[in-house]
Amino acid sequence: MRHSPFTCCERSFAGCEILWLASILAVERASSPEFVGLIALNLGKVNFKNAEGWHKFLPSYWGQGLTTEALNALLNYGFDYLQLHRIEAGCAVENVGSTRVLKKVGMILEGRKRRGSPVRGTWVNNYLFAILDTDWATIREG
Ligand SMILES: CC(C)(COP(=O)(O)OP(=O)(O)OC[C@H]1O[C@@H](n2cnc3c(N)ncnc32)[C@H](O)[C@@H]1OP(=O)(O)O)[C@@H](O)C(=O)NCCC(=O)NCCS
Repeated sequence: MRHSPFTCCERSFAGCEILWLASILAVERASSPEFVGLIALNLGKVNFKNAEGWHKFLPSYWGQGLTTEALNALLNYGFDYLQLHRIEAGCAVENVGSTRVLKKVGMILEGRKRRGSPVRGTWVNNYLFAILDTDWATIREG
């Protein structure tokens, strides 16, 4: 699988710090340039060194391990290249596939938000997962 940089925005405000906005990667098959889905980091304030990850893959590509592979690559990019301290991700509590993927890459379930996400016209409860740079280093060593 290939992850091609799609958008990476940096803006500076009146000589102040740079605000990272987002890095969105389009995920393609390595064997052929098929678009598979999107995976992204919404970056927080520079001094917090944090970001929120999200992903959305085309249903025809589900169940092949592609999201897990892409998320591992995203965490690698966030910690090794962007030098982030913490990456969060959330999913609806009913979303068994995403919950499984987040756990498989080593993200830790930290909480549950009440009616935090709009899904098909209604508010649903969602899980908050996170992983720290130190967690990622331990996984890489292990
Ligand atoms: C959810 C989603 C990310 C899964 O993508 P995927 O490419 O199929 O994920 P993977 O193949 O890497 O892994 C899926 C895992 O979940 C498991 N899984 C999926 N659906 C499941 C279900 N209904 N019950 C139990 N396990 C399930 C799979 O068995 C697999 O685990 P395993 O490797 O231990 O067998 C994908 O369905 C998607 O993009 N959905 C739409 C958008 C969305 O939900 N985004 C997330 C919002 S945070």
